[in-house]
Amino acid sequence: MTTALITGASAGLGAAFARRLAADGLDLVLVARDRGRLESIANELRATHGVRIEVLPADLTVPWARARVERRLTATVEPIDLLVNNAGVEADDELPAAPMTDLQAEIDLNVTAVLRLTRAALPGMLARDRGSVINVASFAGYLPARGSAYGASKAWVLSFTDTVAASVAGTGVRAIALCAGRLRTARHAQVGPPGSPLWIEPADAVDVCLRDLSRGRRLSTPGWLYRLLVGTLEAPRRSLRLLARLAGRGREQQPPTPRPVDPAAAADPEQTMRLAA
Ligand SMILES: NC(=O)c1ccc[n+]([C@@H]2O[C@H](COP(=O)([O-])OP(=O)(O)OC[C@H]3O[C@@H](n4cnc5c(N)ncnc54)[C@H](OP(=O)(O)O)[C@@H]3O)[C@@H](O)[C@H]2O)c1
Repeated sequence: MTTALITGASAGLGAAFARRLAADGLDLVLVARDRGRLESIANELRATHGVRIEVLPADLTVPWARARVERRLTATVEPIDLLVNNAGVEADDELPAAPMTDLQAEIDLNVTAVLRLTRAALPGMLARDRGSVINVASFAGYLPARGSAYGASKAWVLSFTDTVAASVAGTGVRAIALCAGRLRTARHAQVGPPGSPLWIEPADAVDVCLRDLSRGRRLSTPGWLYRLLVGTLEAPRRSLRLLARLAGRGREQQPPTPRPVDPAAAADPEQTMRLAA
């Protein structure tokens, strides 16, 4: 049975991923801070789809809590085949006024957690020669606009996913960035009029992303308007990717060496499962 781990699974886009993947018959590990909200969606999905759901409450900005999720990702019992790095936060204030704690939280959740969870998941996926990582980026990652550290953090997600995809090329492992525009989630006090190309339904974004993943794409951009804009912005990067592939040809002959990020946890899957419970 395929198992997916979704961060930020209790609301918005993460909940849409959980609903779609459960409907597809995947077992799930749901991560967010609020256990009650996680239990509520887990109960709904167990009742509707009969899949196995683990609830793993964790604040991904807190190192010891994040480490529990990293250990779950290294487990060899019921291993994780699909990691959805969805949890993300945007500070309310712009850079000069934003409290440093809010800016740091953007980096801890949008960057550090994505890096660490991906690094934890990849060795097992490579050893099994199967698995996928979906990193939720944002159109804000392309915008040279005022704001907090959010846009820069999402630009990092786009670039990092390119690195992951290039690093696992030629294996059975895939990586894709979901470049979402404005989503109709609780994050926005107001959402645009029906039919507006600026606003995307979370469930539609998930469908497009999973379809692009199955087609072996590295970048998924739901909505025709965003797809048009990102397609234009990505043109130079496509050439650079080709150049990078040509330059790294020799290295691509050697498959990546899978090494567990935490040998202690990998060697004791039972302990990992207990920690995850
Ligand atoms: N909404 C948009 O318009 C939009 C556009 C482009 C990209 N995105 C990206 O899409 C992703 C999801 O956004 P969304 O709008 O669906 O967000 P959302 O509705 O605010 O939901 C955020 C989810 O993340 C969890 N979460 C927040 N802080 C966390 C932490 N420190 N540790 C663990 N979990 C945490 C929340 O649950 P708890 O509060 O219980 O932890 C919740 O499940 C984000 O990466 C966001 O940047 C969103």
